[in-house]
Formats: sequence, structure tokens, C-alpha cells
Amino acid sequence: MQVLLGIDIGTSGCKALLIGADGAVIAADTASYPLSQPHPGWAEQDPDLWIQGARRAVAGVMAAAPGVEILCIGLTGQMHGLVALDAGHRVLRPAILWNDQRTGAECAAVTEAAGGLPGLLAATNNRMLPGYTGGKILWMRTREPELFARMTLALNPKDYLRLRLTGEVASEVSDASGTGLFDVRARTWATGLIETLGIDPAILPPAPESKEITGRVSRAGAQLFGLPEGIPVAGGGGDSVIQTIGSGVIAPGELQTTIGTAGILAAALDAPQDNPDGRLQGFCNVAADKWHCMGVSLNAGGAMGWYRDTFGPGIPFDTLTAEAAASPAGARGLLFLPYLNGERCPHPDPAARGAFVGLTARHGRGDITRAVMEGVVHAFADMHALMLPMGIEGRIIKASGGGAKSPLWRQIQADVFGCDVVTTEGAAEGAAFGAALVAGLAVGVWADAVAAAATCRDLTRERPDPATAPAHARATAIHRGLYPVLSGAFAALGDPLLDH
Ligand code: XUL
Repeated sequence: MQVLLGIDIGTSGCKALLIGADGAVIAADTASYPLSQPHPGWAEQDPDLWIQGARRAVAGVMAAAPGVEILCIGLTGQMHGLVALDAGHRVLRPAILWNDQRTGAECAAVTEAAGGLPGLLAATNNRMLPGYTGGKILWMRTREPELFARMTLALNPKDYLRLRLTGEVASEVSDASGTGLFDVRARTWATGLIETLGIDPAILPPAPESKEITGRVSRAGAQLFGLPEGIPVAGGGGDSVIQTIGSGVIAPGELQTTIGTAGILAAALDAPQDNPDGRLQGFCNVAADKWHCMGVSLNAGGAMGWYRDTFGPGIPFDTLTAEAAASPAGARGLLFLPYLNGERCPHPDPAARGAFVGLTARHGRGDITRAVMEGVVHAFADMHALMLPMGIEGRIIKASGGGAKSPLWRQIQADVFGCDVVTTEGAAEGAAFGAALVAGLAVGVWADAVAAAATCRDLTRERPDPATAPAHARATAIHRGLYPVLSGAFAALGDPLLDH
């Protein structure tokens, strides 16, 4: 049987996934590994953990599906991480990950060097967010000059796996976009900015289109991963870009929501669009003729998890959501701002804080749970309000992530956005499914990205309840007015006199 292999270097583990040429999942396996936080705000991982994780996960799927013929491998993984390598391709230090916050000063320096935010947006169409790779390269230059002097390559996580699998140095356009050093409109490195920052362009890998074959499993790769030598390896894509096609989102009017720890609202674009004030993330899509627009909230499923663990430890989510389902749309005038870890989108503000607004003695636990769930969806609606002027409409939502398992959370999305919400086959497998689709594109299993996305058949469908529309419209509008009023108080509350 002919199959496609997707490998996802996630933050908590590596997932390997085999799918057939019809898109059906044949085997999946995950190997988890730890995250290291050596200082507050730092997040690192030894790249060898990924390699060992990939070995275990690949061994798992191959044992579950003996005798398959792998047509192509697609790679994906956590975006923005910096893997620093020396001339012998040895790892110089633990990888600095997407959720690491150490580079605030370097990001400000990049923006200034680019001539301010308008100059940076003209060069890359993105802000230099603290998680992005570009700021980390500058951090190493200032803070670890001896290691920096030995660095000959700066790779993203999945591209380190590619190196070990094929011996080839390559990235592709979607992950390259997330370095903050890529000209997303022209789908090429932002050479002017890179030169201005004094970064040697030779440390950055080639970045072809995502479906290009970047190499083949080498003899060493075959031995390491227990795979046949010579299998082609496609470019693949950054996880939050590739899971958009893996949720079947490719055409105008389709939106993807992911409620994982973080929350993502994403769409595919037919042409690059200006990124208003840099508040969204505008990347190259894994489809060569499309772009990717997304908002990432740092507080979605994580906010719900915090709420349950703090106020109802041990209570099953199903119990809480059943109570929330009995509360009416708008939670009897109770709103929740979910910015528990600061926020990225729609408000790029590390000092932002969470808030319940409108609590009364009449509110019970069901109302409060509903307010938390609605608050996460209001944040998606705020992101969509930024996308609307770019012509990104929401005629259908394809929901994924752990939060998509909740029918109530899907219904709230349908009601707030006023459109159908579906879940699709394969999307629950996460980015590894998108990576397997891109592998299929690379070897012609599907004619194009639209055909690949069409393999994601609908599993469930929630339709908007028009009776809830007036309450949701009112609550969304009130919610949108709260952050501007409260942001000064949020900053003041971070005073070490109070918060220590
Ligand atoms: C995207 C982002 C995360 C990481 C980790 O911008 O920061 O989705 O890719 O999964």
C-alpha cells in the first residue's frame, strides 16, 4: 500500500502520521519530550530530543503499518525556533523556542533599524515578535558572542530534522516567513533588512516553495530513523500554516479556528495583503499561489484550563460545559477578557491581563464558564474584525484543536460569527496531517492544494441559531470596547509593588 508520512516536531512531542492516497489516516504515533525553562520567560529544547522523539514516533507508525511504501515525507513543526549549528552541523546551544520571551530589546532594535514599524512592515509584512527567529539571532550575537562567531547555520526545528534525515540544508517559504526576516510578498529572504541588521545571509537556508522536494532520505538518515533510503522529503511547512490546509481551508470565505492552549484564527489569501499595524501574522501559504493570514491569541484552551484548575479542580470539562450550555447567550451580561498570559493578537501587549466584567450576585458557575468560552470566541471575532478590511470573509468555520471537541464551543463560534462551523476528517491529527498532504502534493498525489484540501471531509456541523444573534452582537461590541478602557489599569497592576 502506498502512503504519505507526515512528521510534526511539536513543543510537547513529535507526532508521526501515515495517510493513504485518499487522505485516510492509517497510523499515528506520538513521542513526548520535555520543555526546559532555565530562566523566567525562556523556553528551550535540546534538538536531539526531537530526533529521538521522531525516531520513536516513526518506529511506532511503521510497526503499526508493516509493508507500506512511503511515497514522500512531509515535515512540519513548531515555528520560529532557532537551532544554531556550527560548520560541522553540530548544535551549538539548546534551541530557543517560539514561546521564549527574552528578545524584547532585540525586536525593538530590529524595528528601529528597519526605519520604524512602517519600514519593517514594508520589508516583511510582519512585526518582529519576541518569539520570532530574527530577534534570537541578534540575541545570540550580543549575549553569546563566542557561540555566535561559530554559528554557520540558523535553522527552524523541522529543518533540523530535515538535515538529519537527508543531509540537506533547506527550509521553505512558510517557516521562513516566521523568522521575521522574509519578504512574504515576494516569497524570498528580505535581503535589504538582513543586510541592515548585519546578519550574514549565508546562515539562512534556501527557502523554496513548500511542496518542492528538498532532498531524499540519506544512508545515515535511513539508519537513524529506520526508513528506506531514497524516499523524497518535501519542504513541508510551519505548524500553524500547514494545519490550515490540513483543516481543509484554502478558498475565500473559509476560516480555520484552532482552540489549543493558544487560539488561532487563520485564512488562505489569493494575494498578499497589507497587515494593518502588524497586528496579524501574514505569511506565505504552503500553496505556492496563496498567502496565509492569522491571528494568534496566547489564551484559548489554556484560559479554560486555568479556569477549571483554579475554580473547579477535578471537575470534568463535560460537566462544566453542560452547566454553561444552560446559561443564555451573553452569559447574563458577563464578559471575560482572556489575556491571562499577556496577549499577541488582537492586542500585542505583554502586560494585558484577564478580567471578568459584569459579575453580579446572580451569576452562577454555568454563567461564568460560558463567559470564559465566549471570551475566547470574542477574541477570534476581534481578530476577524482586523481581517475584514483585507477582504477576508467568514462564510464557514473549520474548527480544530482540543476545543473543537466541545459541541458548545463550536455552537458559540457559529452563533458569534453567524456561519456554519464544521470539523473535518484528519484535522484532529494536527499539523502532521497537513504535512502528509503537502508530501502528497510534492509527488503529484493531488493535482493542487485545492484538491488536497478537498480530502478533508466534514465530520460534524453546527449551524448558527438566529435567536442568539442580537445578544451576541451586543456582547461582542461591549467586549471590543473593554481593552482600550482597561489597558492602562493592566499596565499599572503589573507594578512590582502589587505584583511580586
Ligand atoms: C505561530 C506560533 C505557534 C508555534 C508553535 O506563530 O507561534 O503556533 O508555531 O506551535
